[in-house]
Amino acid sequence: MKIAVLPGDGIGPEITSAAVKVLQALGLKLELESAPVGGAAYEAAGHPLPESTLNLARAADAILFGAVGDWKYDTLDRPLRPEQAILGLRKHLGLFANFRPAICYEQLTAASSLKPELVAGLDILIIRELTGDIYFGQPRGRRQAPDGHFPGAEEAFDTMRYTRPEVERIARVAFEAARQRSRRVTSVDKANVLETFQLWKDVVTEVHKDYPDVELSHMYVDNAAMQLVKAPKAFDVIVTGNMFGDILSDEASMLTGSIGMLPSASLNDKKQGLYEPSHGSAPDIAGKGVANPLATILSAAMMLRFSLGQPEAADRIEAAVRKVLAQGLRTPDIWSEGTTRVGTREMGEAVVRALD
Ligand code: IPM
Ligand code: MG
Repeated sequence: MKIAVLPGDGIGPEITSAAVKVLQALGLKLELESAPVGGAAYEAAGHPLPESTLNLARAADAILFGAVGDWKYDTLDRPLRPEQAILGLRKHLGLFANFRPAICYEQLTAASSLKPELVAGLDILIIRELTGDIYFGQPRGRRQAPDGHFPGAEEAFDTMRYTRPEVERIARVAFEAARQRSRRVTSVDKANVLETFQLWKDVVTEVHKDYPDVELSHMYVDNAAMQLVKAPKAFDVIVTGNMFGDILSDEASMLTGSIGMLPSASLNDKKQGLYEPSHGSAPDIAGKGVANPLATILSAAMMLRFSLGQPEAADRIEAAVRKVLAQGLRTPDIWSEGTTRVGTREMGEAVVRALD
């Protein structure tokens, strides 16, 4: 089992190092190899996703990804910015299915900005389409406006588009995932305004015929954003497009108290996957040893379950994370009165010790 480790920027190296130690403590035959990505790769090789890093990722069964980005790169040409590394990996590896669970751990209920009774026991799964939509649609660019309110003015444009097969395959992923859970899917769209999302809604409805045991509902994205903070536990699986999924998954992360707890998986049709925390590179706390490594450690668990066929090892990691939370260990982002404040490395080591 080959794992490409791409630590990236900011807190990326600290959190991936903690997760690697957990992986190595499992007693499995894992081949781990690291490569630079994002700003770190730009510094080392002049490109955020060098050919050698992409090849390592291609050859691996799974990729453990830290985080990329730092405001000091915001003035670079777009193709050289760190974010292009993650977008490039998604595109080149065809990682179209993004799983973003939002689970509120019992001990962290009070850390949420919502009332405890709204989030206690929350366990929802956002499935975000990851290789289409306005993120990748062509044409895009800047030009002189050929028409519109201000003809001749400087204008920028992107293209929102989905093909039927792209919607079909992500809908199947969502219905299959729902079968492992409470069998309810909410498809989030903007069919009242956008052609793209009328097609989305039509196709999801058609695919649903193959899954009569799963309950399907449709919701407009603006209403979904509202329902997520009004009654989040009413959801089970949410399936949506790339951009709406980007926004809603950040919103959902806050229901759980800390984005520092949330893993994610991005899979292609061969179950090859990229696993990364849902949070970013947090340059403000980089190198201080205070970042929460649990999202990355939980991402490693998802990797074992989805790409490496090791569900027992995944269970062991998840149980160990619950155990360290029960022991009262907390990084600063989830710390509260009466708990023990620990750093990144201590938290990682505690998880290793808690492995059965
Ligand atoms: C995410 C991030 C990325 C995205 C950025 C870094 C390109 O926000 O994974 O949610 O927009 O998809
Ligand atoms: Mg995002």
